[in-house]
Amino acid sequence: MDYNQAYRDIEHLFGVEPEPLLKRCYMELDMTKPVLDIGAGQGRNCLFLAREGFDVVAIEPSAVGIEAISTSAAKEGLSVQAHQTTFEAFRPGSCQFGGFLVFGLIQELPRESIELLISRINSWTMAGSFVFVTCFTTDDSAYPRISKEWKNIGKRSFADEDGTIRTYLEPKEILGMFGGYKVIHHWEGFGPMHRHGDGPPEQHAKAELVIQR
Ligand SMILES: C[S@@+](CC[C@H](N)C(=O)[O-])C[C@H]1O[C@@H](n2cnc3c(N)ncnc32)[C@H](O)[C@@H]1O
Repeated sequence: MDYNQAYRDIEHLFGVEPEPLLKRCYMELDMTKPVLDIGAGQGRNCLFLAREGFDVVAIEPSAVGIEAISTSAAKEGLSVQAHQTTFEAFRPGSCQFGGFLVFGLIQELPRESIELLISRINSWTMAGSFVFVTCFTTDDSAYPRISKEWKNIGKRSFADEDGTIRTYLEPKEILGMFGGYKVIHHWEGFGPMHRHGDGPPEQHAKAELVIQR
């Protein structure tokens, strides 16, 4: 997936509204601590939190995504530090985050990167930190086709010819992936019907998780 091109083509590829899970549960977060948005895209989630008064650090490999976030933050005078980087390369320094957003990233990573992501989050969280996650499950309507037509690269993980990856979790699998946290919210089901730009209508089978260290 070429996110630079996709973000150039469509101003709000994932919509302007924040992830519904974030809108419902962000009040759990401690406003005195910064939040790290991992794979921030065009910023719909980090900008929402910044408008609510949070200090946010956004990391995103797409230069076009980072430019969109920085422009909006500067225009609105919001506290957002946007870094063009990956979670693999990011070093938080002495920053102690109260929350981590992992929206729509897990399904785009191969299994070994998901393991690395979780180990990084484990090393960046402290007592009381929250982690918000959404990912795709095998109930997704695209799963039967993708699992048949794309190359299998790991457990329920597939790559197409362009290198786009889809990794699907089994129902409730997400609950066993993060150890040492209290589960605050867990839900699995179908997300809202939506379109990306002029694309066809889509509805994903999703898992939502909010955990606290
Ligand atoms: C499906 S989009 C979701 C964007 C945003 N979280 C949202 O909900 O609107 C996934 C994003 O993860 C980013 N991404 C992919 N690999 C990444 C990595 N290794 N580290 C950080 N972000 C990554 C992509 O560039 C893309 O913007």
